[in-house]
Amino acid sequence: MKFSILTIFPNIFQSYFSESIVKRAQEKKLLKLEMVDIRKFSKNKHHKVDDRPYGGGAGMVMTAQPLYDCIKSVKKKNKGPVIYLTPHGKTLTHTVAIKLSKLSECIVLCGRYEGIDQRIRDLLIDEEISIGKYVLTGGELPAMVLVDAITRLLPGVLGDENSAEEDSFTKKLHGKKEYPHYTKPAVFKGLKVPDVLMSGHHKKIEEWRMSKLE
Ligand code: ADE
Repeated sequence: MKFSILTIFPNIFQSYFSESIVKRAQEKKLLKLEMVDIRKFSKNKHHKVDDRPYGGGAGMVMTAQPLYDCIKSVKKKNKGPVIYLTPHGKTLTHTVAIKLSKLSECIVLCGRYEGIDQRIRDLLIDEEISIGKYVLTGGELPAMVLVDAITRLLPGVLGDENSAEEDSFTKKLHGKKEYPHYTKPAVFKGLKVPDVLMSGHHKKIEEWRMSKLE
């Protein structure tokens, strides 16, 4: 799956995207990430990308021109839907992540300031997504959350031993619930791993985990 991430802070992404599972997914060519600097598309001589809102009010608004030119340019090479990250969007859930993981490409727009000029929403945005009911300073963290949640669902990204859809039991959990996990040592600070988990009795282990779901 290919993501084109449109942002005025492309460097924010380098660290997270070059570690762990997201890094390996790119190495395995299961994931392609490209960060596009919106500022480079500004025709303003100071590469300005924001201005005061018509009608007055607090904060600044991202101007239409750089966003329009940036999205139009990226759309030539990325045929996926344009997703705008905003606290006013549809909440990202596991079900939404599964749906999006079926796409082969998508364009993700990270907003800043008070938001983007409404005409960009009217003309070019296909879907608006929020990562929760709180307001962040921009869409960059939400874009990383979105990429992470989708990446682990892409076939081949997680190994067999911790696959996102490893068995019917995990499917029942649907990413919502969790049972207690233990690993070595068997005793830590006097706390012992429950005997059932050491028993090797798979049916009993599943029953125990079911009983512990939160
Ligand atoms: N931009 C600012 N806050 C956000 C949120 N909660 N979700 C998505 N984008 C955002």
